[in-house]
Amino acid sequence: MKILIIGAGNVGAHIAYLSLFSSLDEVAVYDIQKELVLGKTLDLSHSAGVLKKDLKFRAVQNLAEEVADIVVITAGMPRKEGMSRADLLDVNVKIMQDIIENLNEDLLQNAVFIIVANPVDVLSYYFYKKTGIAKNRLIGMAGALDAGRFRYHLHENIDKKISDLNPVVIGSHSKDMMCVYKEGDASLIDKAKVETQNAGAKVVSYYKGGSAYFAPASGVKTLIDAVIEDKNEIIPSVAVLEGEYGYSDIAFGVPVRISKTGISEIIKLQLSKNEEEELKSSVNGIEDSIAYLREKNLI
Ligand code: 2OP
Repeated sequence: MKILIIGAGNVGAHIAYLSLFSSLDEVAVYDIQKELVLGKTLDLSHSAGVLKKDLKFRAVQNLAEEVADIVVITAGMPRKEGMSRADLLDVNVKIMQDIIENLNEDLLQNAVFIIVANPVDVLSYYFYKKTGIAKNRLIGMAGALDAGRFRYHLHENIDKKISDLNPVVIGSHSKDMMCVYKEGDASLIDKAKVETQNAGAKVVSYYKGGSAYFAPASGVKTLIDAVIEDKNEIIPSVAVLEGEYGYSDIAFGVPVRISKTGISEIIKLQLSKNEEEELKSSVNGIEDSIAYLREKNLI
């Protein structure tokens, strides 16, 4: 199996590195900074030598000629302190547009695409509208990361083992994300929810000039493994919705099953009236951003 990573910044490079610990044959990496990719793929190839892994890393010169089983798009500007993910929309939609124009037709017809660039829900929808690919082959990476962060903060607050916790995070990948977990002291769970909602911004505030990458790359690894091993694993992810949860013509985080064809099922959670309202306000911002793209004739 081969993956193509578009964008060799911190997230892309860490996804490439984590690929050493998945069952892959080849990792192709593309970035507009050609020398940077040559350096990263050479360094990664040396890691394969050190760790005795038969994994080939290759720098892509011409994106339009590249085919792969899975494509991960991380290219985009990361946020800086004080910015929301939605503030990145104008610049990152332009980068996404350039990438789409350069993708191989065969790749578009067959590969599973994992979108990582932010705002991930809006850019996943944009990618879907612009390419017209089958919606099951489009996965936005958000819930894998947010549920992972929630798992960690729950563990810290309610003193359960990380490996025993299985929370879900749905809705928007923003401070309005909807964290779902009910077993335990409600005030401690609420504290973990707030910490999770602020987790990305907290890392940004420490990094002074970039956003998180270890945990986002780990989120992508879980998706890649679920696809290549045909796991049928439930991982909350951004999916294009056609009526599920009462929404259409939008993409946001929902629990989905991931298998070799991408999203093989969208899982319907039983939400209370209050939770339905919470989901509605969570995805308001996505609806606004999609309306903005329509106004600008970008979709
Ligand atoms: C985060 O939550 C970068 O959106 C990413 O850290």
